[in-house]
Amino acid sequence: MKNKIIAANWKSNITKFEAKKWINDVSLEFQNSDIEIVIFPPFTLLDLLSGYIKVNSLPLSLGAQNISPFESGPYTGEVSGALIKEFADYVLIGHSERRTLFNENEEMINRKIEEALRFDLKPIVCISETDQVKNLNSDKIMLAYEPISSIGTNKPEDPQLVSQKINEIQTEKRVDVIYGGSVDGQNVKDYLAKENISGVLIGSSSIDPQNFIKILNNVY
Ligand code: PGA
Repeated sequence: MKNKIIAANWKSNITKFEAKKWINDVSLEFQNSDIEIVIFPPFTLLDLLSGYIKVNSLPLSLGAQNISPFESGPYTGEVSGALIKEFADYVLIGHSERRTLFNENEEMINRKIEEALRFDLKPIVCISETDQVKNLNSDKIMLAYEPISSIGTNKPEDPQLVSQKINEIQTEKRVDVIYGGSVDGQNVKDYLAKENISGVLIGSSSIDPQNFIKILNNVY
């Protein structure tokens, strides 16, 4: 069986100082080689964290929270795949906050997926409805199923229902799917126990390292 993924989406949080403490606290506790931890920090921290992870040989992977739909060039404020690849292996695409607050549409999301794949970045594409999978062109992606009603609300979706929804998604596209939405130290193992849930994407409970450690200690 493949390792399950525990992904931490820090969103627009965490300073340099806090990030160093987070990494130290979490790596002291982290012993479980059966899971892959992927941190999605803000862009400002990718350089610092990738250096720190390398120097200390920490078992942590890094991802970017977004990617430019364009190649490198005159696109002010955007970060291209080539620039991300210097520091990270994963990229989050089409998070519901980006779809709603920044008007990301399917065309843009598909362009971002192409850019990620061009630079050998692993795209984790977020969808909040099962039928959104129909609009994605590539099969070389992982999906994160995140119902809007569960994001940042403390209203996690029932794991059995999530598993059924993932079955629906996988009849359309045979790709790995992780779940996100109010995952915490209490409920994480209910999701990971389901065979077709390949991991979890955690927002709020990933910010405080002690909360994240609780999650790591409760994965099985
Ligand atoms: P949450 O966020 O864990 O705070 O619900 C999940 C996400 O937005 O990916």
